Amino acid sequence: MPEYVLTNKELETLVDTTDEWIQTRNGIRERRILKGEGLGTSDMATEAVKELLQKRGISPLDIELVICATTTPDMQFPATANVISDKTGMKNAFGFDVSAACSGFLYALTTGAQYIETGRHKKVLVIGGDKMSSILNYEDRATCIIFGDGCGCVLLEPDTEGYGIIDSVLKSDGAGRAFLHQKAGGSVKPATVETVMNREHFVYQEGQTVFKFAVKNMAEVAAEIMDRNGLTSDSVTWLVPHQANKRIIDATRERMNLAPEKVMINIERYGNTTNGTLPLCLWEWESQLKRGDNIILAAFGGGFTWGATYIRWAYDGNKS
Ligand SMILES: CC(C)(COP(=O)(O)OP(=O)(O)OC[C@H]1O[C@@H](n2cnc3c(N)ncnc32)[C@H](O)[C@@H]1OP(=O)(O)O)[C@@H](O)C(=O)NCCC(=O)NCCS
Repeated sequence: MPEYVLTNKELETLVDTTDEWIQTRNGIRERRILKGEGLGTSDMATEAVKELLQKRGISPLDIELVICATTTPDMQFPATANVISDKTGMKNAFGFDVSAACSGFLYALTTGAQYIETGRHKKVLVIGGDKMSSILNYEDRATCIIFGDGCGCVLLEPDTEGYGIIDSVLKSDGAGRAFLHQKAGGSVKPATVETVMNREHFVYQEGQTVFKFAVKNMAEVAAEIMDRNGLTSDSVTWLVPHQANKRIIDATRERMNLAPEKVMINIERYGNTTNGTLPLCLWEWESQLKRGDNIILAAFGGGFTWGATYIRWAYDGNKS
């Protein structure tokens, strides 16, 4: 997480909003912002990757594949995964980025798991992170209050005892792109003086429509993955929900009939870090996780994209 804390109070000085409005509608009190010229998503990822490798005592040369889920790559090309590999010395790895907005980490996790399941690779690093402040209009109160910067990562390794990533339900509906997108900067509308003047390089969101789809789809997919794996509200140990809006998280929890203490929530401190939310929750709660915990990850994002993943956790957090 970057150090700079952007509070609701500071946002009150930038746009016509209030701390109370933001906390009531969204559950966010503050978010982190990556300050400093020349710093991008890869710089946050580099810190996360170094911390993980050090914790596990693994050389960067052992990593075989790097998948980076991001909506704010360092550049259009090359892939941010390659930049991260270079900055951390993962010289034996190949890498690529996954673009699926706020569901990107789930898509990347499922993709990485396939390389492990087939036996092709033994150490796959999956990174999720965004520097959302680079595409936010701090004059648009409907969007700038929601998002923050942050990045997390996980290491996938083989397991032969039935632990790990058991199942994923991933969905998308491209018709939803109308309601949440970045208008310019791609091949349809390359950057021009006009696109910059018209502020078309920022996040465009029709919040109410996104909210309705997110509430319905995230809850449905979480219920679906429980059903098809025979999980009940008692046997699920944790829900790790995408942190977009506290009310969306509550609706998902209610649909799953889970007790509030089984839900990882840090939206009040970090806001929506897009691809960062899920790995950052796992990072914050890792010491509480136990071998055999049944964990459901659920996300919804631009595209529209959404999904849920079922993990049977493989180790005791305090022994990691
Ligand atoms: C963005 C969001 C918090 C807005 O909440 P909402 O209850 O839908 O609010 P609305 O957009 O209907 O706006 C209600 C009113 O608040 C105003 N408003 C919007 N943003 C505001 C802000 N930051 N501060 C104060 N007022 C605000 C609107 O202008 C509107 O005023 P009006 O009634 O006079 O027109 C909510 O729609 C949301 O969370 N959507 C999903 C966002 C999301 O999850 N995105 C990421 C997907 S992964």
